[in-house]
Amino acid sequence: QTTLGDAAAAQGRYFGVAVAAGRLGEPDYTATLNREFNSVTAENSWKWESLQPSPGYFDFSTADRIAEHARQQGMELRGHTLVWHSQLPGWVENIGSADELRAVMNNHITTVMEHYKGQVRSWDVVNEAFADGGSGARRDSVFQRLLGDGWIEEAFRTARAADPDATLCYNDYNTDAWNTAKTQAVYNMVADFVSRGVPIDCVGFQAHFNSGNPVPENYHVTLQNFADLGVEVQITELDIAGWGDSQAQQYAGVTLACLAVPQCSGITVWGVTDKYSWRAEDTPLLFDGDYNPKQAYHAVLETLGGS
Ligand code: G3I
Repeated sequence: QTTLGDAAAAQGRYFGVAVAAGRLGEPDYTATLNREFNSVTAENSWKWESLQPSPGYFDFSTADRIAEHARQQGMELRGHTLVWHSQLPGWVENIGSADELRAVMNNHITTVMEHYKGQVRSWDVVNEAFADGGSGARRDSVFQRLLGDGWIEEAFRTARAADPDATLCYNDYNTDAWNTAKTQAVYNMVADFVSRGVPIDCVGFQAHFNSGNPVPENYHVTLQNFADLGVEVQITELDIAGWGDSQAQQYAGVTLACLAVPQCSGITVWGVTDKYSWRAEDTPLLFDGDYNPKQAYHAVLETLGGS
């Protein structure tokens, strides 16, 4: 009986999961985590509002519990996320001067990355900077308003200086189908960064799927097109609404898409069990509320070559 982590490792990939620090005391949660997964992302506790709730006051206590658990279990860490418009404390949103915001952004990146230097394989340096819909525009945020388009590039340059060995990712959702304005906008930004030597190593595809946003038929084409720019690609927050055969087939499809792309280094699912999912009513994960592996689990495992 193989596990997701072992089967993925045999394919040269990791298989990760988002973890809530507050659940680590639940024995079945932790047993499932430790058995199946070899990479961990903090679901919330590495976000700005948790790490720097007030100016210059950093609190790593909860975040460190996740890092420590990963270290003890020999799991890789994905850092999520340094700069994001959401779960951003009010004091940052209320900054009014570009110079101040730039200094605050760079200080946050540097302080957090130095705290975890050498421990984090990949960082989501910037998360969800593009708008939904057909515009292909940048999303409105305090960073975009005050700093203009250059803020993303600046964040990546600061991140590279803080931990030169980490893989630096741009992470977003609804970027799975190739021919959409949002996917194209992200692609054009990454192509521009690569051509100008802006330090970017990776693109993260959150991969939150449901009936309105199904797994695209040609998902591997999107992943490969990005990889052909010279970056690694990762599935970073996978979950798929549904149940049974249909859900299992879609999970197998995403897994196959990653395996089809040599530069796809791994998959992270966005939670251990359906009952604690951010959209629990959609039962989108691989284990049910009693930690029984679902059909989707077996489909992923078999696609990875495990049994
Ligand atoms: O911690 C407080 C708790 O003290 C309070 O009693 C409770 C009452 O609502 O709220 C708790 O905070 C919640 C937090 O999750 C922890 O459970 C927030 O309200 C809730 O908004 C937050 O949701 C998280 C969401 O990001 C916020 O945007 C989800 O757990 C998390 O799964 C989700 O993750 C995001 C990724 O970071 C980025 N991509 C999309 C993905 C799904 O939305």
